[in-house]
Amino acid sequence: MSAFKDNLLAGMTAFVAGGTSGINLGIAKRYAALGAKVAVAGRNPEKAANAAAEIGGGALGLSCDVRDYAQIRAALEEAKDKLGPLDIVVSGAAGNFVAPALGMSANGFKTVVDIDLNGTFNVFRACYDLLAPNASLIAITAGQAVNPSMMQAHVCAAKAGINQLIRVLAMEWGPAGVRVNGISPGPIAGTEGMARLSPTPESDKAITARIPLRRFGQVEEVAESAVFLVSDSARYVTGTILDCDGGSQLGDARDRQAAGGLS
Ligand code: HXC
Ligand code: NAP
Repeated sequence: MSAFKDNLLAGMTAFVAGGTSGINLGIAKRYAALGAKVAVAGRNPEKAANAAAEIGGGALGLSCDVRDYAQIRAALEEAKDKLGPLDIVVSGAAGNFVAPALGMSANGFKTVVDIDLNGTFNVFRACYDLLAPNASLIAITAGQAVNPSMMQAHVCAAKAGINQLIRVLAMEWGPAGVRVNGISPGPIAGTEGMARLSPTPESDKAITARIPLRRFGQVEEVAESAVFLVSDSARYVTGTILDCDGGSQLGDARDRQAAGGLS
């Protein structure tokens, strides 16, 4: 059930980087259902086209790599040209694999930092002069930004960087009326992220046991947070990171790891 009315985002344009699957696709679908014109972008063109078809309503599916500034700039320009100035930009592209630091090459570490952190800088830097007045930006971060997690050195470092980037951009761009916030999802059912972090029913159980709400989240629940942050109800909210995680990040990191869960 949603508290938001059906035409909440009518007349608005949203660009979702990494919006071709999982949580970010769920956000894009919800924005479209609330009346926004939507563009999603990912590396794989077929996946982007399928996502656009799934969203419907003339959504654009664009292919680009957020690590390449010229590529993401071109995708953002195409979205603005076809759909209008960007009211909403979500940066959610991410990569992850489970490995200890000693099992990670310099390029493995760099790859995740490049996608998550540098990619978020690229998306936000490249979209700035394509924004509509009072635009709202959201970066998708993770609990690893705050609580260290073994086998996740790259993600912890990248997402911590994203959290600070959100705050700095909120300060620098607030005077122009641009709001910049983050969402930190907890373990979300049925996603690629959780398939990598929790590959067995046993690991799912261990993770669930330490979540205060005692369950994984749903893609649709993260999408509701993403609607709130871009809505007029959040007009005085900037530089914040909204945990949509059932309380997952509460408590001590060592308890989490002792329970056998990585997230
Ligand atoms: C060690 C690994 C590795 C692994 C890749 N590498 N997988 N090292 N263990 N399991 C190394 C490679 O050997 C290589 O280093 C370097 O990483 C780059 O690998 P490529 O395959 O060339 O990179 P690329 O094709 O760009 O793919 C990026 C990727 C891939 C991150 C490796 O998995 C990907 O595209 N992921 C996107 C989807 C995804 O991860 N979704 C989950 C997001 S969830 P060398 O030295 O050999 O060149 C998420 C979780 C947040 O972010 C927290 C949730 C709670
Ligand atoms: P996902 O389904 O793997 O989605 C990742 C998206 O990013 C895809 O659209 C992917 O498409 C795109 N992408 C990856 N690398 C890219 C690149 N270099 N350039 C452009 N696009 C790229 O992941 P998810 O599990 O739903 O996670 C979504 C977000 O939520 C991520 O930011 C993740 O860190 C965060 N998060 C997830 C969880 C969870 O439980 N899943 C928890 C906390 C935080 P292509 O592969 O075609 O490029």
